Amino acid sequence: MSKKLNIFTINGPNLNMLGMREPDIYGHETLADIEKRCRSICDADGATLEWMQSNSEGEIITAVQQAAGRADWIVINAAGLTHSSVALRDALALFPGGKIEIHLSNTHKREEFRHHSMISAVVNGVVLGFGSMSYVMAIRGILEITRES
Ligand code: DQA
Repeated sequence: MSKKLNIFTINGPNLNMLGMREPDIYGHETLADIEKRCRSICDADGATLEWMQSNSEGEIITAVQQAAGRADWIVINAAGLTHSSVALRDALALFPGGKIEIHLSNTHKREEFRHHSMISAVVNGVVLGFGSMSYVMAIRGILEITRES
């Protein structure tokens, strides 16, 4: 029997506040709602979904380091760390599997400091601006790519 595909979704600072956090930008769904949807997609496909949220940069970096050899893909909404964290970029660069950066909002349409991502250069792809559908699109994309290969 072949090993189940393992997708590790990492959520950065303040994403635990989704639902009540600037709903005009981020929507009304909570992070738990989004997780539920992603989990049912992975379950239906026979893939494993690991999911975490942390407000701590160090915890996220450690999680990326420890995912090596366990997770096949990382899907990461690094939230505010996207624009600031050289250390997170370095950790992601070391991760040997696939990596997709996601954002709920179209960061290029927003304040200038959100236009630059520290992590885009070390990931396979980026999905942004589709609200919670950015998560779904990244996961469906991974499942599709994996089926083809
Ligand atoms: C975000 C965009 C970031 O600029 C912001 O700091 C977030 C959320 C998004 O999903 O749109 O916290 O990553």
